[in-house]
Amino acid sequence: MLTDAVAGAGLTGRGGAGFPTADKLAAISGRRTVVIGNGAEGEPLSDKDAVLLSCAPHLVIDGLVLAAREVGSREVYLYADEARHPHLEHALSERRSAGRGEPDVRLIGAPGTFVSGEKSSIVNRIGGGPAVPLDRRTHLSTSGLRGRPTLISNVETFAHLAMIARYGAHWFRSRGMNGAAGTMLVTLSGDLRSVGVVEVPMGIPLEQLLIEYGRTDPHALRAVLCGGYHGGWVTSTELHSTILTPGSLAPYGAGPGAGVVHGLGVERCGLTAAVGIARFLGQQSARQCGPCTNGLPRMAESLANVAAGRSPSRCEQELLFLTDMVDGRGACGHPDGAVRFVRSSMRAFAGDARHHAAGRCEARSAVPGFDRAVSS
Ligand SMILES: Cc1cc2nc3c(=O)[nH]c(=O)nc-3n(C[C@H](O)[C@H](O)[C@H](O)COP(=O)(O)O)c2cc1C
Ligand code: SF4
Repeated sequence: MLTDAVAGAGLTGRGGAGFPTADKLAAISGRRTVVIGNGAEGEPLSDKDAVLLSCAPHLVIDGLVLAAREVGSREVYLYADEARHPHLEHALSERRSAGRGEPDVRLIGAPGTFVSGEKSSIVNRIGGGPAVPLDRRTHLSTSGLRGRPTLISNVETFAHLAMIARYGAHWFRSRGMNGAAGTMLVTLSGDLRSVGVVEVPMGIPLEQLLIEYGRTDPHALRAVLCGGYHGGWVTSTELHSTILTPGSLAPYGAGPGAGVVHGLGVERCGLTAAVGIARFLGQQSARQCGPCTNGLPRMAESLANVAAGRSPSRCEQELLFLTDMVDGRGACGHPDGAVRFVRSSMRAFAGDARHHAAGRCEARSAVPGFDRAVSS
């Protein structure tokens, strides 16, 4: 059975949380099940789903069709930016003409906002509503789209699933490093000499990733943001002991997430970069839950006050209060991700906060690429 092969392979989701895919497949049972490929990619620093859907649409569709057969589904959706649709439509029409007798995959437009890729936003959107999270606690595996058992996974997860079906669990496991299973797509960005999407072994040491794929000397970096805007910072002194696995990155409040690795050069101010991201996250709240709607912008402004060197101990106390107040209080994981990022920023840039309070900053310039987040 495919679920057994996926369990043996140790495949975890590539959409952010890294949940075991076999457990998700096993949780789907009952009639009129639904399968959805999540290619929303609302994370501003990620490009891997767009690249995957452009370069290997059939691999993703293979994975969707295989998963649909596994859970007995005839209703399959692929949720992605409309800019990708003509290319995907072409791939789907090739399959129809080949008469493969597989379930038809319906394309649904993802609006590109940060929360539009959250799983209940997708259920809402395909059900005819806006792409914002549903205020509900029910598991989608038992009651998802129109109350039916629904499997939602990231498009890269479906691509790996298709490869496991072809080459087996052992092959997939052997592609990882340091005991981790498989490969993952990583979007390299920021102050790296080589940026873009690469496929790397899970468990690769971060320094090796930066040198071999990013063609960058780790000493040229102040910190690396791992896991994107819901992730955390690993500072340059911590890089040498860190590998690309959830366990190794967890002490820094980071994780592989959806494969974002963003380098911050030594000449950049970490606090300034963090404020830009925290403000962006505050603006992305779907404004349905009080702690998220009010707490996230307040967290961003407290962080801005730390960056401006204003009453650092009062601002830090306020940040401790706000992060505790917001954590776990939303109807979706957005506020938790924002809290994780802010806590990680305070930890990684504690030294910079002291410098700013004393009227100094080691950095020479603001961070290009964060302009959109800072100014919007
Ligand atoms: C605010 C927010 C935004 C998210 N955006 C995405 C996204 O753009 N793409 C994605 O695959 N998962 C996203 N997720 C995670 C999904 O809710 C879901 O867990 C994921 O698609 C499951 O796929 P996986 O098991 O393959 O990781 C987001 C979660 C949150 C809380
Ligand atoms: S926690 Fe925030 S983003 Fe999530 S549903 Fe509530 S208001 Fe919307």
